[in-house]
Amino acid sequence: MDMRVRSRAPTKITLFGEHAVVYGFPAIVMAVPIYIDVEMETHDSFALSSGPLTMEEFGIRVKGGKVELDERSSEQILRVFSYVMEALKEIGLEGAQVRISSPLPMGAGMGTSAAVTVATLLGGLALIGRNVSEEELANMAWEVEKKVQGVASPMDTSASAIGGVLKIYKRGEWIRERINVKRLPLVVGIFEKAKNTGEIVRDVRKRMERVTELREVMELIGKITLRAQKALEDEDLALLGELMNVNNALLEALGVVDKRVANAVHSALEAGALGAKVSGAGLGGAVIALVERDKAEEVMTAFKLSGARKYFFIESPSRGAFLLNT
Ligand code: MEV
Repeated sequence: MDMRVRSRAPTKITLFGEHAVVYGFPAIVMAVPIYIDVEMETHDSFALSSGPLTMEEFGIRVKGGKVELDERSSEQILRVFSYVMEALKEIGLEGAQVRISSPLPMGAGMGTSAAVTVATLLGGLALIGRNVSEEELANMAWEVEKKVQGVASPMDTSASAIGGVLKIYKRGEWIRERINVKRLPLVVGIFEKAKNTGEIVRDVRKRMERVTELREVMELIGKITLRAQKALEDEDLALLGELMNVNNALLEALGVVDKRVANAVHSALEAGALGAKVSGAGLGGAVIALVERDKAEEVMTAFKLSGARKYFFIESPSRGAFLLNT
């Protein structure tokens, strides 16, 4: 009997500590209620589509169980394809019809690939009747992400699988701790990204090999992150905003704040944000601004005028990935 499942996985923003987390320093990540939906059916061969575009429009065709790519296959879509294929391999599912819908462009800087991976794994596991804990799901998704991406911390996949606000760091092994946050008003802007995350992480590594002092910048980002955890727990938004600005300055030292992002950050601050920073790998992608609700419109306009492709207001974290009734 053919089965059909639908799963939903949240995307994420990094509040503090991106890049430094790759070296084991703490980062704070928040799952956000902007979701990737995956619909899956058992199928004897593999097929992928991503709405609203069809597979044909993306230039990926499956004929007689064989994948054919044409010249229109954008790098982005090929990457999505790799995450889905690798996720199915991880759980030993040989064929499936997979439909993905995303309100965000892939590679937007909000952990879309992690969310695609988590939602595909969750759907695939339901298809084969296997139950796993949130932590196991996060670990499986991280394995997939590492295979496709090369370098990755377990940050994005943990946020999408587990949800809420998490502190992630490495002490021998990777540790995830929940931080209790009910409300955190943020404006998010999505900018064109100059490079993909893997490339940016590798560039930062090379820069650190030349300028070894950057290791201390990473360490300082870790300290700012711990201070931010305390500010989050105390609901001290003013301090949190200042810490965001400091974190962004340190990200600039790592070379991931380009002119566009710097403009967006400064415009958001001028429009009344309490703090603003890159969120994720940088060089475009996501930029976040901490705002009181009455400033949200102005800050969104500031992002729009700085060239954001999309922008939205988020007030609280999302739960982790879940199955939807079909
Ligand atoms: C990307 O969202 C965040 C980075 O820290 C990379 C990672 O943690 O894998 C830049």
